[in-house]
Amino acid sequence: MVKIEAIVRKEKFDDVYRVLESSGIGGMTVTEARGFGHHRNGLQEKVKIEIYADEFQVDRIVEAIRETAKTETTGDGKIAVLNLDNLYRIRTGEEGAAAI
Ligand SMILES: Nc1ncnc2c1ncn2[C@@H]1O[C@H](COP(=O)(O)OP(=O)(O)OP(=O)(O)O)[C@@H](O)[C@H]1O
Ligand SMILES: [Mg+2]
Repeated sequence: MVKIEAIVRKEKFDDVYRVLESSGIGGMTVTEARGFGHHRNGLQEKVKIEIYADEFQVDRIVEAIRETAKTETTGDGKIAVLNLDNLYRIRTGEEGAAAI
């Protein structure tokens, strides 16, 4: 299992959300964020997206985010893929991929 963490432009978020909603992911968490990249032009408003997913879903999710979030100008953001040790569904105690 992995956590996909993406930081995207605020104005791109609605499009990214629409694509992800119909992409077979188990869920997502969204946080309003502020950050800077190489250009250090102050803290810009961004949206952070977190998704727990199975390895086989990663390429498709990353590509969907990248294709939708890009403007090909500076400040489009980042996509990180982090290995997850475990995931638990609080209600049932299920763990691992079953908890996605
Ligand atoms: N090294 C980093 N660590 C954590 N967050 C980052 C990092 N770099 C960028 N971000 C986040 O991504 C947002 C957009 O960054 P940005 O796309 O400008 O990155 P960049 O590496 O400078 O690339 P670009 O050349 O496209 O500007 C930042 O506002 C910040 O929230
Ligand atoms: Mg930058």
